[in-house]
Amino acid sequence: MNLDLVIKGGTVATASDTFAADVGIKDGRIAALAAELDGAETIDATGKLVLPGGIETHCHIEQESATGAMTSDDYYSGSVSALYGGNTSFVPFAAQHRGQSVADTLETYHARARKSVIDYSFHLIITDPSEEVLKEGLPAAFRQGITSFKVFMTYDKMIVSDEMMLDILVTAREHGALTMVHAENNALIKWMVKRLVERGHEAAKYHAVSHPAAAEAEAIHRGIRLATFVGAPLLIVHVSTDEGARLVAKARQEGHAIFGETCPQYLFLTHADLDRPGAEGAKFCCSPPLRDGKTQADLWRHLQAGTFHLWSSDHAPYRFDETGKLAAGPNPPFTKIANGMPGIAMRAPLLMSEGVNKGRISLNQFVALTATNGAKLFGMHPKKGTIAIGADADIAIWDPAAKRTITAADMHDAMDYTPFEGFEITGWPETMITRGRVALSGGTLHAARGDGAFVPRAPFDFTGYTAPPPAELDPANGFGVALID
Ligand code: URP
Ligand code: ZN
Ligand code: ZN
Repeated sequence: MNLDLVIKGGTVATASDTFAADVGIKDGRIAALAAELDGAETIDATGKLVLPGGIETHCHIEQESATGAMTSDDYYSGSVSALYGGNTSFVPFAAQHRGQSVADTLETYHARARKSVIDYSFHLIITDPSEEVLKEGLPAAFRQGITSFKVFMTYDKMIVSDEMMLDILVTAREHGALTMVHAENNALIKWMVKRLVERGHEAAKYHAVSHPAAAEAEAIHRGIRLATFVGAPLLIVHVSTDEGARLVAKARQEGHAIFGETCPQYLFLTHADLDRPGAEGAKFCCSPPLRDGKTQADLWRHLQAGTFHLWSSDHAPYRFDETGKLAAGPNPPFTKIANGMPGIAMRAPLLMSEGVNKGRISLNQFVALTATNGAKLFGMHPKKGTIAIGADADIAIWDPAAKRTITAADMHDAMDYTPFEGFEITGWPETMITRGRVALSGGTLHAARGDGAFVPRAPFDFTGYTAPPPAELDPANGFGVALID
């Protein structure tokens, strides 16, 4: 076979295996895995790790925030930053405004995404599940291969009621879609905010106080109960507490299709960062908020034990200026600071350095958490997320020994800060290949605006999730009527 490109002499790792092999690429796909391959072009990967390109499945790109601020990264800068951080695809959100149709929402985001240098899809954020959205908009989106969406249990501009959430979950189950949820109890947060503000506690550090662990735990519990009641799969995004993670683990152990995601900020930063001098704490305002050192240790344990399927950045980039974090003035109250922080270029390097290189997780767990699990949960596997014959040649070649002191310039995004400034890490993705093309090497970007393509995704795969359907919804007993007659 005449191979276009061969990656020679590296250590290949997938979510299950680690082995020495050359990787042969033909027409943008992986065509051979063997010793001593030859091709028209060769990359020497001796001493390097040859891994599936990362798939970032939680990032906010060219999207308006709950406070109205626009993210600094558009689909060009966001995708470039993702690529520098070891990713070959991403799945940002297409956010419906209340009153907007699904078709109009998707048209807006398809137009924005044409600039992407890496492959992409969208999760739909549903804020207004009208009859039209549920009966026509969502089914049409599923037919286009958009098979996941997100709902919010908090933020006044985004929140859906429990009743709406049930409607969305049932629609998702019917079409085989995966629902993602931002789970925090809105009333509890508002109650805390009111008390804090009344007492004059408006500095950034009080953002963490206003979003207690109980708010997350209560909403995760409620979300899981609603999803399991209607037999719908649910992914709890950005889990930030031990209690929340335990609820996820328990539900899955009971056979439910309930999944969890956590993010680097909850393992590498704490609420003390919100108390930095001046307005600097605003850089660290995200929801759920940063927690404490004990929680960091708890979340590492859950990551090691497999509670979490996904390790995502929740990249939500708002600059430290009047376009973003300081839109309400140079010293904003915590209630007026856009929530979110950048990190798409750091999620994989931080896990390689502090997870794999420090022996906390295996290389195979790293691949699962950063690529394969996301591809499987979101219907992109085996085209994406693995190194196998026939898969897209989306590959990250890592130097596991490369040392770096992180600066904002390393992020190649449209931001003016990184929350991980000054971190010393070991391991860096040095060559990136997207569908067989060298997109990045030696720090130089080769990919062009628009090289990325939309990836239609398959429905959620229910295989292995064995929990019986709820009796109240079973047609065999008259949807529960038989239980009380
Ligand atoms: O604070 C955060 N996480 N902002 C981004 C939007 C969200 O809630 O995921
Ligand atoms: Zn969220
Ligand atoms: Zn988010």
